[in-house]
Amino acid sequence: MSIRDEVKRVLVTEEQIRERCQELGRQITKEYSERNEKPLLVALLRGSVPFLAELMKYIDLDIQYDFMDVTSYAGTKSTGDIRIIKDLETSAEGEDILIVEDIIDTGRTINAVMGMFRNKGAHSVRVVTLLDKPDRRVVDVRADYVGFEIDDYFVIGFGLDYNQRFRALPFVGIPKEEVYR
Ligand code: IMP
Ligand code: MG
Repeated sequence: MSIRDEVKRVLVTEEQIRERCQELGRQITKEYSERNEKPLLVALLRGSVPFLAELMKYIDLDIQYDFMDVTSYAGTKSTGDIRIIKDLETSAEGEDILIVEDIIDTGRTINAVMGMFRNKGAHSVRVVTLLDKPDRRVVDVRADYVGFEIDDYFVIGFGLDYNQRFRALPFVGIPKEEVYR
């Protein structure tokens, strides 16, 4: 019995992820070098780690990366407040922040994190996300770079989890119903 037997359907293959990361890496390289900026990649733990690792191979710039861990209060506020579990080691002031996210769902998390970096005096704040579920949005926020737009499925793999499981799968998939039992 393999963990892959718990996957109903593969939505994005390993190869599709690699190809898309190459394209995004080239685009990021071009746009940041045209502006003479060096991005500080800020990966949101834990889901964005595989995406960060794949994407940055194709960014041909003098980049740095750091990690942040936040939880959003799943409350009633549509703007979304976040609590910082682990903050950056690097100062964001004057930096060209490129937030690396696994998936944008309601948009609350990314919206709050972007606002936080703006308040901290970042020179620019942009977002690259592997996946985007635009149908689920409750706050009007857009990523600058999107790997794949997907329909409203709960997905796992390539960093994404269900109860901390499935993060190490090299593709993005939909779990079988029995996983939720
Ligand atoms: P948002 O604040 O609603 O945009 O939440 C985004 C966060 O919710 C992501 O960083 C994920 O941790 C989690 N999330 C949203 N959709 C999924 C999914 O389909 N699978 C796994 N995690 C998800
Ligand atoms: Mg997350």
